[in-house]
Amino acid sequence: MKDVSVGICGLGTVGGGTFNVLTRNAALIAGRAGCNIRIARVASRRSRDDIDLGNVAFSTEIFDVVNDPAIDVVVELIGGYETARELVLSAIRNGKHVVTANKALIAVHGNEIFEAAEKAGVVVAYEAGVAGGIPVMKAIREGLAANRIDWIAGIINGTGNYILTEMRAGRAFAEVLKEAQDLGYAEADPTFDVEGIDAAHKLTILASAGFGVPLQFEKAFTEGISSITPYDIAHAEQLGYRIKHLGIARRRDEGIELRVHPTLVPQSHLIAQVDGVLNAVLVDGDAVGQTMYYGPGAGDEATASAVIADIVDVARIVASGSTLRVPHLGFVPGALENLNV
Ligand code: HSE
Repeated sequence: MKDVSVGICGLGTVGGGTFNVLTRNAALIAGRAGCNIRIARVASRRSRDDIDLGNVAFSTEIFDVVNDPAIDVVVELIGGYETARELVLSAIRNGKHVVTANKALIAVHGNEIFEAAEKAGVVVAYEAGVAGGIPVMKAIREGLAANRIDWIAGIINGTGNYILTEMRAGRAFAEVLKEAQDLGYAEADPTFDVEGIDAAHKLTILASAGFGVPLQFEKAFTEGISSITPYDIAHAEQLGYRIKHLGIARRRDEGIELRVHPTLVPQSHLIAQVDGVLNAVLVDGDAVGQTMYYGPGAGDEATASAVIADIVDVARIVASGSTLRVPHLGFVPGALENLNV
């Protein structure tokens, strides 16, 4: 079996989870990938005493990973915009494939990154950026490849859903947010969770894959949950509704509508039953009808599950020497002109 070498940048919640799962399940992952996925190097500004790196090379300089000629796949798990952008673009320039969980990076700089990857002939994969462990990008890109997608809607921020769920049980907003931070669910800047920015990043990515349009984060209408009061929640419940923070992307005659905001959902709807850190995404396709994808939207190993799914996809390409690559938006460049969006 061939070896494919991976370098992990970032050893926070998701980086640690990725290292642990890749190490623990190495044999079964190799069996599925058809090649050995070898962690050649880990780089992180801070080391972690709770993770046994064994004989894997470690450095505090994250750019060591992109400059290591032995590495085939760079796994970007540092988060944030600018350093992550530089890291990913230099990995691409060095001919390395990239796996990232960074939705902010993809939503805001994805068009530039995909263009660079296209030119360099490498893959950029980002399943873990959307809905944590739920393989919804793969579902849209592959499972629903036959469909004209008309709308996508769902709960795509675990922290926000956790806060709304716990508030229903009478707990205070600030206390629950602190708990979500302690559990590693929240973003480094939790206003991204509570003001809907994180959900808008994910919705932007879902819409680009679903409708085959470039990433257009700046066009998303974004409203968070910070002004929702216990009174709002109780009142909605009395009327037979539940307040859920939804991202909604819809194909309209005028173009694609992107919006993120608190929504009154009938209590009988499946989406209303999705509680805690769980996410759920509904996708409506013209052939299949409505489908729903449900599972953990955040957390170390749940998100690592999606990161590793991408590593497996990319490793198969590296190991086979294939030039057939997954289109970044789920569409081959040039095919967009044929779409009525
Ligand atoms: N802060 C994010 C959330 C992490 O709560 O959904 C997963 O993207």
